[in-house]
Amino acid sequence: MSADICRWGILGTANIARKNWKAMRQAGNAVLVAVGSRSAGRANEYIRECQSEVPFATLPQGCTYEELLQREDIDAVYIPLPTGIRKDWVIRAAHAGKHVLCEKPCGTTTAELREIIAACAAKRVQFMDGVMFMHGHRLPLMRAELDRGAVGTIRRISSQFSFAASDEFLNSNIRANNQLEPLGCLGDLGWYNIRFSLWAMQYQLPQAATGRLLTEHGPAGQTVPLEFSGELLYPGGVTASFYCSFLTELQQWAHITGTAGSLYLDDFVLPYYGCEAQFVLDQPAFRVQGTSYHMERHQRSHVSSEYSDGHADSQETNMIRRFSELARGTTHDPFWPEVALKTQLVLDACLQSARQDGRPMPVSQS
Ligand SMILES: NC(=O)c1ccc[n+]([C@@H]2O[C@H](COP(=O)([O-])OP(=O)(O)OC[C@H]3O[C@@H](n4cnc5c(N)ncnc54)[C@H](OP(=O)(O)O)[C@@H]3O)[C@@H](O)[C@H]2O)c1
Repeated sequence: MSADICRWGILGTANIARKNWKAMRQAGNAVLVAVGSRSAGRANEYIRECQSEVPFATLPQGCTYEELLQREDIDAVYIPLPTGIRKDWVIRAAHAGKHVLCEKPCGTTTAELREIIAACAAKRVQFMDGVMFMHGHRLPLMRAELDRGAVGTIRRISSQFSFAASDEFLNSNIRANNQLEPLGCLGDLGWYNIRFSLWAMQYQLPQAATGRLLTEHGPAGQTVPLEFSGELLYPGGVTASFYCSFLTELQQWAHITGTAGSLYLDDFVLPYYGCEAQFVLDQPAFRVQGTSYHMERHQRSHVSSEYSDGHADSQETNMIRRFSELARGTTHDPFWPEVALKTQLVLDACLQSARQDGRPMPVSQS
């Protein structure tokens, strides 16, 4: 095995890990060695299904979570276990010397994530969250436009990430279960809204955040957020609002408005299927002449040539490739734990605010 190839294990037979199975196969510097499961039968069936569609040269092996972490032929572990039970497994993986690609939300609280990050730092292993859009080619193009002043000075960021869940989802999915995913839609969807706002603001933390729990689900004392709105408050009056929901039709748009224009994309999390990811720069003009009142559209579409998913240059494959490079390299990138922590800090502040009638909660790293 080449020294440049990262040898992966996956903890749990999660649905989302099917996508990353393919990403590992296509990354060019990764190989999947084993899948851990609470059930040997489930691991073997999962491996059979994924391997029949996207085969590795050597069949990945099924095992328990513990056995996977003990294997010496695994460098990195992808952990898409439910957030409610994930912390212990991430820390166990770090103690076993494995680099950790951790699903989001990373912890149920900031305190949990701090423990996770400390364990990874102590064992000198890389930590990264599983936010795929961070690895698309579109973000650097958008950054370049913002940096050249295409929207002027940023004043307002808004985003919505939502889908209308079925009754079956609300009855059986881990995201609607307080023990497994206590942050509900805020952890599953709002994590992306917050990350996008942080990205737009060059990862500056807001000074405060507010939140509103619009709808909850579950028995008293064990509810999860189903619908949430939040607002990040920056110095100088810059604000970032977001809405995330398991009740509202599929939407994933983001809008950055400045003093001289705006930037818009309608698929900021998962690019629409195809080989181009787009965003729009908008500078409308309002012209009044006598009795004519014209609102003129002045838009420019920008295109990033990249496949939306399932391809060697799609965002999830870039994520696996980048993580594999870090895992096999000699230096680690502190950016990834840092940005995960910032995301969790803001999320926590929004939730605390919602639980205190929308009172602004300070956001600080200390
Ligand atoms: N980054 C992304 O794009 C993205 C997309 C979707 C989801 N996610 C995140 O990934 C995580 C997993 O989501 P998913 O929809 O893929 O989950 P899922 O299909 O329900 O899988 C979770 C896995 O965790 C294991 N598990 C261990 N204890 C469990 C328990 N008590 N109950 C249920 N499962 C348990 C199970 O594997 P075994 O039974 O084999 O042990 C199960 O297959 C979530 O935190 C979610 O927010 C991220």
